[in-house]
Amino acid sequence: MVQVLDMPTPKGRDLMERLVFRGIVFNMSWEDPEMDRQAFRLTPDDTVISISSAGCNPLNFLCQNPRQLISIDGNPAQNAILELKLAAIAKLDHATFFDIFAARNPSVVTKVYRPLLRPLLSQKSRDFWDKNLWMAHRGLYNFGRMGLAARIVRFVMPRLGLKRHRIEEFFEMRSLAEQETFFNEYAAPKLWGPFTERLCKSRWFMYLCGVHPRQLKLVDGRHDIYEYVKERLNYAFTKVPIYDNYFLSVVVTGRFRGNRVPPYLLEENFETLRSNLDRVQVVNGWLGPFLDTQPEKSISKFNLLDIFDWMTPEMFEATLKSVLRAATPGATMIYRSGSYQLDPPASILRHVERHDDLAKRLLAQDRSATYGSFYVLTVKSRPNGRE
Ligand SMILES: C[S@@+](CC[C@H](N)C(=O)[O-])C[C@H]1O[C@@H](n2cnc3c(N)ncnc32)[C@H](O)[C@@H]1O
Repeated sequence: MVQVLDMPTPKGRDLMERLVFRGIVFNMSWEDPEMDRQAFRLTPDDTVISISSAGCNPLNFLCQNPRQLISIDGNPAQNAILELKLAAIAKLDHATFFDIFAARNPSVVTKVYRPLLRPLLSQKSRDFWDKNLWMAHRGLYNFGRMGLAARIVRFVMPRLGLKRHRIEEFFEMRSLAEQETFFNEYAAPKLWGPFTERLCKSRWFMYLCGVHPRQLKLVDGRHDIYEYVKERLNYAFTKVPIYDNYFLSVVVTGRFRGNRVPPYLLEENFETLRSNLDRVQVVNGWLGPFLDTQPEKSISKFNLLDIFDWMTPEMFEATLKSVLRAATPGATMIYRSGSYQLDPPASILRHVERHDDLAKRLLAQDRSATYGSFYVLTVKSRPNGRE
C-alpha cells in the first residue's frame, strides 16, 4: 500500500491562489518527461522528490526504478489523481489502466472504482473521488481547469477557420519541413490575430490554463503574454516533431494518438510500475516545509517543475535553501520557468554547478510549448549555518 502523508497547510496563501488553484487544475503533467529523463539519468540508488501535478511525471520516474519516489503537492486534488493511478496499477490489468488514463474507454472506471480502487485510497482521495468520479468516467483530459481551457481552444479553432480534418492530418506528419510549411501557410495566419490576442490577455483564461497569478505577472511583466505564447507555440509547431507530441494532441484534438502517450501508460512499463509501488510516498503539503522535516543529505534528485514562478523571491530563496539542506552531495535539481530567465539567487548559485548547455539542448526539444527556460543544477556545497 502506498504511504500517504498529510502535512499541515501553511497559513497566508493568497485568496486568488486558494480560489483558482483548488480541485483539479492540471489533468496531466505539463512537463516533457524526456527532458527530465536525460537531465536526471536515474539509477536504483536515487531518492527522487517530484511535484505531483497530475502524477504523470512521478510515474514516469517510477518506470526508471529509483530507490524511492516522494511525490508532493500542495493541492490534494492533484494527489488524488496520482493515488487513483497508483491503485489502478496495483489492482487492474494494463488494458483497463490504459482505458481509463489514456481515456480510450474511461467509463470502465465506474465498474472498478468501488470494488477495487477505493479501498486503496487515502480518506482524502476517497472523499474527492466519491464526489468527482464522473470526471474520470467521462475522460480526465476534458476536465479540471486545464481541461476546460482545452475545450475552449477546440471550440475556437474551427471558428478561426482551422478545419478538423486538416488538423488531424497535421498530427500525422513525420517530416519537420512538411510540418513547418503546413503550419506557416495554413495554421499560423488563421491562429494569430485580435481574437487570440484577447484570449491570451484574458487573465481568467490564463488561470484556466494553470498560469498562477504571480507567474502571469512575471511573464506578462517581462515579455507580453501574447507574444510569449505565440513564440512558444510557433516554435513547438514548426521546430519540434509533431508526430509524437502528445501534449499538443490532447489539447488540440482532445485525445492521445494510439501509443503516443507518456511512458507510464505504455504496456512495456506496467509490470515495472507494479513491482515498484512500495517505493512510493505521496505527500499532501508544500515542498519547503516538507523538506525541512527530511534528514539532511537524503534526497538526490529534485523535480521542481515551475513552482518558483508561483513564489515571491523570498520564498524562492528559502525553498532552495531547504533543497540544499536535504540534498546529497552532487544531487541534481531541475526546474522550469514561464519566463526566459529565472536564475537562482546569488546565495544559492555559489553552492551549485549549472549545466546550461544541457538545459538549452533539452529545452529545444520540449514538446509542451510552455516554458521559456529550463535549469539543470547539481549541488557542489551547502550553506553553513550562518548563511
Ligand atoms: C507548479 S504547478 C504547474 C505545473 C505545470 N506548469 C503544468 O502546467 O502542469 C504544478 C503543481 O505544483 C503544485 N505546487 C506549486 N507550488 C508548490 C509547492 N511549493 N509545494 C508543493 N506543491 C506545489 C501545484 O499545486 C500544482 O499541482
